[in-house]
Amino acid sequence: MTLLDEIETLRGILEQDVASIKTQDDAEQFRLRHLVKKGTVQALTDRLRDVPKEEKPHVGKVLNEVRTWVNEVFAEVRERVTTRVTGPQIDLTLPLRGPIGGSLHPITATIDRIIDIFSSMGFDVAEGPDVEDDGHNFGKLNFAEDHPARDMQDTFFVASDSRSDILLRTHTSSVQVRVMESQTPPIRCIMPGRVYRNEAVSSRSLAEFHQIEGLYIDRNVTMADLKGTIMAFARSFYDATAEFRFRTSYFPFTEPSCEIDMSCFLCKGTGCKVCKHSGWLEICGAGMVHPNVLRNCGIDPDEYSGFAFGFGVERVVMMLTGIDDIRKLYENDLRVLRQF
Ligand code: DAH
Repeated sequence: MTLLDEIETLRGILEQDVASIKTQDDAEQFRLRHLVKKGTVQALTDRLRDVPKEEKPHVGKVLNEVRTWVNEVFAEVRERVTTRVTGPQIDLTLPLRGPIGGSLHPITATIDRIIDIFSSMGFDVAEGPDVEDDGHNFGKLNFAEDHPARDMQDTFFVASDSRSDILLRTHTSSVQVRVMESQTPPIRCIMPGRVYRNEAVSSRSLAEFHQIEGLYIDRNVTMADLKGTIMAFARSFYDATAEFRFRTSYFPFTEPSCEIDMSCFLCKGTGCKVCKHSGWLEICGAGMVHPNVLRNCGIDPDEYSGFAFGFGVERVVMMLTGIDDIRKLYENDLRVLRQF
């Protein structure tokens, strides 16, 4: 076999081998077998010496072509199979980040918790309309005709061609009236909802906020039932060891009326920022439903009695969380909301 034949044979082998390079390792094997000093290509080149002088230029040229070709092809193939990390490095073993879930707004979560506690004591939940008439918001609740709460400065009235008594409810006590009108005792329910007042917006008040109203009507309901119910609720919701203070007060729709304070759940009565150093937190207004109110709603006050209470939800959330500006609850700032 002449050297020229051997060169052709080697070209065939090189073609086959280069075509089977799939990995970086294959490429290295190819290089070690064919392209190093002791490789197949150099071995044939070394034998050029023995070729007769007249044939040397031709054989040399053919060999050079093979050499150039194989070097080029190999460079390309090696480039293709070499894995190179470009751009940011990725750690495929890192655990997945979980989906970012939403959560209930603190007002909603608080209302839900309050509903849960009263449900466990046998209370239902009732709702009424935000747009009310004067009768349900004031009249039937025993507000005098000239009561200042009816004033334009406190109440948002709704413009209407035909009526002048349509308004946005100023408290959830309006729902008491609707429940008493539509149900017969025994009645046990709480009534959460939005209320509206024509107030200047500040860190302590908004024109739109939430209240929860409670109502219990049956035979022989007394002030003792009111106290027991509120204390059971507050001990479950705020603090199992809370102490209470019942102060006399006035509401047109209850007689007698009271405001209920609870020892501060944070400092246990010794004085702190939450209770403004008084040791006490006001938790709700309450009282025995006024006989006039029962009568106005079709319930006989000689047969039935009951108690009612009401409080603002935003204040509860602020007390529990230490949020000191009511507006923060409505700015939808994720830095605030993500904490709940
Ligand atoms: N409606 C009162 C308010 O808006 C709160 C209230 C006080 C509700 C006493 C009641 C109650 O049911 O008995 O300030």
